[in-house]
Amino acid sequence: MPSGSRSSHHHDHNPHDWDSADYVSNWAQDQDQKEASRQKAFGLLADTIPYDKAQAITILDLGAGYGALTRFLLERFPQARVVCQDGSEEMAKLGRERMKDFNGRFAYVIADFSRHGWSKLVPGPFEAIVSSIAIHNVNSPNIICGIYEDTYPLVKPGGCFLNFDRHHPPIEEQMKWLRGAGFKDVQCFWQDQNRALFGGFKEG
Ligand SMILES: C[S@@+](CC[C@H](N)C(=O)[O-])C[C@H]1O[C@@H](n2cnc3c(N)ncnc32)[C@H](O)[C@@H]1O
Repeated sequence: MPSGSRSSHHHDHNPHDWDSADYVSNWAQDQDQKEASRQKAFGLLADTIPYDKAQAITILDLGAGYGALTRFLLERFPQARVVCQDGSEEMAKLGRERMKDFNGRFAYVIADFSRHGWSKLVPGPFEAIVSSIAIHNVNSPNIICGIYEDTYPLVKPGGCFLNFDRHHPPIEEQMKWLRGAGFKDVQCFWQDQNRALFGGFKEG
Protein backbone atom coordinates (compact mmCIF):
# COMPACT_ATOMS: atom_id res chain seq x y z
CA MET A 1 0.00 0.00 0.00
CA PRO A 2 1.49 3.39 -0.95
CA SER A 3 2.50 5.63 1.93
CA GLY A 4 0.69 8.92 2.54
CA SER A 5 -2.63 7.18 1.93
CA ARG A 6 -5.83 8.89 3.06
CA SER A 7 -7.05 5.36 3.81
CA SER A 8 -7.75 4.14 7.32
CA HIS A 9 -6.32 0.86 6.02
CA HIS A 10 -3.38 0.98 8.39
CA HIS A 11 -5.03 2.46 11.45
CA ASP A 12 -3.97 0.69 14.62
CA HIS A 13 -7.53 -0.37 15.41
CA ASN A 14 -7.89 -2.09 12.05
CA PRO A 15 -7.37 -5.81 12.80
CA HIS A 16 -6.58 -6.69 9.17
CA ASP A 17 -3.09 -6.69 7.73
CA TRP A 18 -3.77 -7.24 4.03
CA ASP A 19 -0.11 -6.56 3.16
CA SER A 20 1.18 -9.51 5.17
CA ALA A 21 1.62 -12.82 3.29
CA ASP A 22 0.96 -14.86 6.47
CA TYR A 23 -2.13 -12.89 7.43
CA VAL A 24 -3.56 -13.18 3.91
CA SER A 25 -2.85 -16.91 3.70
CA ASN A 26 -4.50 -17.58 7.11
CA TRP A 27 -7.45 -15.34 6.26
CA ALA A 28 -8.01 -17.14 2.96
CA GLN A 29 -7.91 -20.60 4.61
CA ASP A 30 -10.41 -19.48 7.23
CA GLN A 31 -12.60 -17.87 4.56
CA ASP A 32 -12.67 -21.06 2.47
CA GLN A 33 -14.74 -22.74 5.20
CA LYS A 34 -17.26 -19.89 5.11
CA GLU A 35 -17.47 -19.61 1.32
CA ALA A 36 -20.66 -21.71 1.06
CA SER A 37 -22.59 -19.05 3.02
CA ARG A 38 -21.86 -16.49 0.30
CA GLN A 39 -22.94 -18.48 -2.74
CA LYS A 40 -26.61 -17.38 -2.53
CA ALA A 41 -25.71 -13.69 -2.40
CA PHE A 42 -23.14 -14.14 -5.19
CA GLY A 43 -25.85 -15.85 -7.28
CA LEU A 44 -28.27 -13.00 -6.73
CA LEU A 45 -25.53 -10.50 -7.55
CA ALA A 46 -24.78 -12.35 -10.82
CA ASP A 47 -28.49 -12.42 -11.74
CA THR A 48 -28.82 -8.67 -11.04
CA ILE A 49 -26.15 -7.78 -13.60
CA PRO A 50 -28.32 -6.48 -16.47
CA TYR A 51 -26.66 -8.48 -19.29
CA ASP A 52 -27.21 -11.87 -20.82
CA LYS A 53 -24.86 -14.49 -19.35
CA ALA A 54 -23.50 -15.25 -22.84
CA GLN A 55 -22.33 -11.68 -23.48
CA ALA A 56 -18.63 -10.78 -23.47
CA ILE A 57 -18.92 -8.18 -20.72
CA THR A 58 -16.06 -6.63 -18.76
CA ILE A 59 -16.41 -6.52 -14.99
CA LEU A 60 -14.42 -4.65 -12.35
CA ASP A 61 -14.19 -6.31 -8.91
CA LEU A 62 -13.22 -3.69 -6.29
CA GLY A 63 -11.17 -5.17 -3.43
CA ALA A 64 -11.24 -8.51 -5.26
CA GLY A 65 -8.93 -10.26 -2.78
CA TYR A 66 -8.08 -13.78 -3.97
CA GLY A 67 -11.03 -13.63 -6.34
CA ALA A 68 -13.92 -15.49 -4.70
CA LEU A 69 -16.52 -13.29 -6.42
CA THR A 70 -14.43 -12.92 -9.58
CA ARG A 71 -14.24 -16.70 -10.00
CA PHE A 72 -17.99 -17.06 -9.41
CA LEU A 73 -18.72 -14.45 -12.11
CA LEU A 74 -16.22 -15.93 -14.59
CA GLU A 75 -18.11 -19.22 -14.25
CA ARG A 76 -21.56 -17.63 -14.61
CA PHE A 77 -20.53 -15.39 -17.54
CA PRO A 78 -18.29 -17.68 -19.64
CA GLN A 79 -17.33 -14.92 -22.12
CA ALA A 80 -16.64 -12.24 -19.48
CA ARG A 81 -13.34 -10.77 -18.39
CA VAL A 82 -12.70 -9.34 -14.93
CA VAL A 83 -10.33 -6.63 -13.77
CA CYS A 84 -9.49 -7.45 -10.15
CA GLN A 85 -8.56 -4.31 -8.25
CA ASP A 86 -7.01 -4.70 -4.80
CA GLY A 87 -4.64 -2.77 -2.55
CA SER A 88 -2.69 -5.86 -1.53
CA GLU A 89 -0.03 -7.46 -3.72
CA GLU A 90 -0.19 -10.53 -1.45
CA MET A 91 -3.91 -11.00 -2.22
CA ALA A 92 -3.17 -10.56 -5.93
CA LYS A 93 -0.45 -13.26 -5.75
CA LEU A 94 -2.87 -15.66 -4.09
CA GLY A 95 -5.59 -14.78 -6.61
CA ARG A 96 -3.34 -15.36 -9.64
CA GLU A 97 -2.44 -18.77 -8.20
CA ARG A 98 -6.01 -19.75 -7.26
CA MET A 99 -7.52 -18.60 -10.57
CA LYS A 100 -4.93 -20.03 -12.94
CA ASP A 101 -7.67 -22.09 -14.62
CA PHE A 102 -9.03 -18.77 -15.84
CA ASN A 103 -5.74 -17.36 -17.13
CA GLY A 104 -6.34 -14.75 -19.80
CA ARG A 105 -9.78 -13.81 -18.45
CA PHE A 106 -8.70 -11.76 -15.43
CA ALA A 107 -5.98 -9.26 -14.57
CA TYR A 108 -5.05 -7.61 -11.29
CA VAL A 109 -4.56 -3.87 -10.83
CA ILE A 110 -2.95 -2.90 -7.54
CA ALA A 111 -4.54 0.32 -6.34
CA ASP A 112 -5.83 1.77 -3.08
CA PHE A 113 -9.47 2.74 -3.59
CA SER A 114 -9.35 5.08 -0.61
CA ARG A 115 -6.94 7.37 -2.50
CA HIS A 116 -8.53 9.72 -4.96
CA GLY A 117 -7.16 8.90 -8.42
CA TRP A 118 -7.42 5.08 -8.09
CA SER A 119 -10.05 5.03 -10.83
CA LYS A 120 -7.54 6.33 -13.41
CA LEU A 121 -5.44 3.21 -12.83
CA VAL A 122 -8.16 0.79 -14.00
CA PRO A 123 -8.94 0.37 -17.71
CA GLY A 124 -12.67 1.16 -17.87
CA PRO A 125 -15.46 1.54 -18.68
CA PHE A 126 -17.19 -1.63 -17.44
CA GLU A 127 -20.62 -3.17 -17.94
CA ALA A 128 -20.60 -4.14 -14.26
CA ILE A 129 -18.63 -3.00 -11.25
CA VAL A 130 -18.95 -5.28 -8.24
CA SER A 131 -17.45 -5.57 -4.78
CA SER A 132 -17.62 -8.08 -1.94
CA ILE A 133 -16.86 -7.40 1.74
CA ALA A 134 -14.18 -4.87 0.86
CA ILE A 135 -15.30 -1.23 0.88
CA HIS A 136 -16.29 -1.24 4.59
CA ASN A 137 -12.55 -1.57 5.30
CA VAL A 138 -12.36 2.15 4.56
CA ASN A 139 -13.74 3.36 7.85
CA SER A 140 -14.64 6.85 6.64
CA PRO A 141 -18.09 7.82 5.27
CA ASN A 142 -16.56 10.68 3.24
CA ILE A 143 -14.06 8.41 1.57
CA ILE A 144 -16.65 5.72 0.81
CA CYS A 145 -18.91 8.40 -0.71
CA GLY A 146 -15.87 9.50 -2.78
CA ILE A 147 -15.31 5.92 -3.96
CA TYR A 148 -18.89 5.81 -5.26
CA GLU A 149 -18.39 9.15 -7.04
CA ASP A 150 -15.19 7.82 -8.63
CA THR A 151 -16.95 4.58 -9.61
CA TYR A 152 -19.87 6.13 -11.50
CA PRO A 153 -17.85 7.38 -14.54
CA LEU A 154 -16.30 3.90 -14.89
CA VAL A 155 -19.71 2.28 -15.51
CA LYS A 156 -20.92 2.01 -19.11
CA PRO A 157 -24.40 3.41 -19.84
CA GLY A 158 -26.82 0.53 -19.16
CA GLY A 159 -24.41 -0.98 -16.65
CA CYS A 160 -24.45 -1.35 -12.87
CA PHE A 161 -22.56 -1.14 -9.61
CA LEU A 162 -23.39 -3.87 -7.07
CA ASN A 163 -21.88 -4.02 -3.62
CA PHE A 164 -22.15 -6.98 -1.23
CA ASP A 165 -20.87 -5.70 2.09
CA ARG A 166 -21.35 -5.31 5.82
CA HIS A 167 -23.79 -2.75 7.20
CA HIS A 168 -21.03 -0.23 7.91
CA PRO A 169 -21.80 2.57 7.25
CA PRO A 170 -25.58 1.95 7.27
CA ILE A 171 -26.87 0.75 3.88
CA GLU A 172 -29.53 3.50 3.69
CA GLU A 173 -26.76 6.11 3.95
CA GLN A 174 -24.66 4.33 1.35
CA MET A 175 -27.65 4.19 -1.03
CA LYS A 176 -28.01 7.99 -0.70
CA TRP A 177 -24.36 8.38 -1.71
CA LEU A 178 -24.94 6.12 -4.73
CA ARG A 179 -27.93 8.25 -5.81
CA GLY A 180 -25.82 11.38 -5.27
CA ALA A 181 -23.10 9.90 -7.48
CA GLY A 182 -25.66 9.53 -10.32
CA PHE A 183 -26.82 5.92 -10.05
CA LYS A 184 -30.51 5.23 -10.82
CA ASP A 185 -32.91 2.67 -9.42
CA VAL A 186 -30.69 2.30 -6.34
CA GLN A 187 -31.96 -0.47 -4.08
CA CYS A 188 -31.09 -3.10 -1.53
CA PHE A 189 -31.62 -6.47 -3.21
CA TRP A 190 -31.01 -8.69 -0.18
CA GLN A 191 -29.83 -8.43 3.39
CA ASP A 192 -29.34 -10.44 6.54
CA GLN A 193 -28.09 -9.40 9.98
CA ASN A 194 -24.51 -8.94 8.85
CA ARG A 195 -24.44 -8.23 5.15
CA ALA A 196 -26.41 -6.64 2.34
CA LEU A 197 -26.43 -6.64 -1.45
CA PHE A 198 -27.19 -3.16 -2.76
CA GLY A 199 -26.41 -1.02 -5.77
CA GLY A 200 -27.73 0.88 -8.74
CA PHE A 201 -27.67 1.30 -12.50
CA LYS A 202 -26.48 3.83 -15.05
CA GLU A 203 -29.09 4.98 -17.56
CA GLY A 204 -28.51 3.47 -21.00
C1 LIG B 1 -12.44 -9.20 3.35
S1 LIG B 1 -11.38 -9.15 1.94
C2 LIG B 1 -12.57 -9.55 0.66
C3 LIG B 1 -11.93 -10.05 -0.59
C4 LIG B 1 -12.90 -10.55 -1.67
N1 LIG B 1 -13.65 -9.45 -2.27
C5 LIG B 1 -13.83 -11.59 -1.12
O1 LIG B 1 -15.03 -11.31 -0.95
O2 LIG B 1 -13.36 -12.71 -0.85
C6 LIG B 1 -11.11 -7.42 1.75
C7 LIG B 1 -10.21 -7.06 0.59
O3 LIG B 1 -10.22 -5.63 0.44
C8 LIG B 1 -8.91 -5.20 0.16
N2 LIG B 1 -8.79 -3.80 0.59
C9 LIG B 1 -8.95 -3.30 1.84
N3 LIG B 1 -8.76 -1.97 1.85
C10 LIG B 1 -8.48 -1.63 0.56
C11 LIG B 1 -8.17 -0.39 -0.08
N4 LIG B 1 -8.12 0.75 0.60
N5 LIG B 1 -7.96 -0.39 -1.42
C12 LIG B 1 -8.01 -1.56 -2.11
N6 LIG B 1 -8.29 -2.76 -1.57
C13 LIG B 1 -8.50 -2.78 -0.24
C14 LIG B 1 -8.02 -6.14 0.96
O4 LIG B 1 -6.70 -6.16 0.44
C15 LIG B 1 -8.76 -7.45 0.80
O5 LIG B 1 -8.31 -8.17 -0.33
